[in-house]
Amino acid sequence: SPSDPNLVERARAAKEKLGDKVFVLGHHYQRDEVIQFADVTGDSFKLAREAAARPQAEYIVFCGVHFMAESADILTGDDQKVVLPDLAAGCSMADMATAEQVAECWDVLTEAGIAEQVVPVSYMNSSADIKAFTGKHGGTICTSSNAKRALDWAFEQGEKVLFLPDQHLGRNTAVRDMGMSLEDCVVYNPHKPNGGLTADELRAAKMILWRGHCSVHGRFSLDSVNDVRERVPGVNVLVHPECRHEVVAAADYVGSTEYIIKALEAAPAGSKWAIGTELNLVRRLANRFAPEGKEVVFLDKTVCFCSTMNRIDLPHLVWALESLAEGNLVNRIEVDRETEKFAKLALERMLALP
Ligand code: 13P
Ligand code: SF4
Repeated sequence: SPSDPNLVERARAAKEKLGDKVFVLGHHYQRDEVIQFADVTGDSFKLAREAAARPQAEYIVFCGVHFMAESADILTGDDQKVVLPDLAAGCSMADMATAEQVAECWDVLTEAGIAEQVVPVSYMNSSADIKAFTGKHGGTICTSSNAKRALDWAFEQGEKVLFLPDQHLGRNTAVRDMGMSLEDCVVYNPHKPNGGLTADELRAAKMILWRGHCSVHGRFSLDSVNDVRERVPGVNVLVHPECRHEVVAAADYVGSTEYIIKALEAAPAGSKWAIGTELNLVRRLANRFAPEGKEVVFLDKTVCFCSTMNRIDLPHLVWALESLAEGNLVNRIEVDRETEKFAKLALERMLALP
């Protein structure tokens, strides 16, 4: 959507007034009207590293969702403040694993006599509580760009992995990148007694996958892949690993948002691409690469925005920047010290992965 020129001007003026005091991070799924004000754009991994690398900025304005802002707070200094322009920008996947449910799951694993062999690996898309649980139990965080390295590391530490909260990223990485079979994976359902699994099933499994998923990527189906191959002959299908296993198995390439962008940059003129990820990013890529003769289409026929990413719009960004410029700290995201200590341990294990 074309941005309101008055709001664009106000955002520019507030940012200029703040100068080096503010650093704006933008996830690739953000709206165009917001992304134009980002000092750095990136996938979840790149943004976590960028936040940690900006000690001179007093304010980090995070244009993304809540768990990303929490991670930025954990990785930045105590005197740095992380601001999320709309506090309602959560993530439905992160909400699928609560601290109580995960503690209960650990009890189930203990009952089955396997907790000592299990290393938790939690996707970045999780609350700070879940990251703290992960750190406390000797595990690491991963993102879609380093999930294989995280699993390699985890299987050096123990025999089994509890993967939270995205079953698809866990399964896709285990089967596609690590050579495991679907039978090596079981799904723990937090809404069923004992996760819906018997102790024998837990003992036999290598990957215990939490029953979470992304509602945006869950919309892509095998039919979406088959249809686009018919509609666009010669198309390369490139999808995010949060997609369901059958979609990933039918795709030509799989990777994080940053990987998707790099793949298109490297693609030859005349090539055609169907992208299975959030629509703000796909539209931006279609516009960017059309002049180079690369055709980029959305994998599905229906519209697929991430509604919580979209909550960060230009009016919210203007409000946050103007408030900060006037000395009012609004919408600060602050993780408590005890949680931060253990969550940081898990995040630092990720940052140290080879
Ligand atoms: P990446 O940007 O790390 O690929 O993550 C996608 C996502 O769903 C973020 O919420
Ligand atoms: Fe969460 Fe999916 Fe939105 Fe990413 S795209 S923030 S995983 S709901």
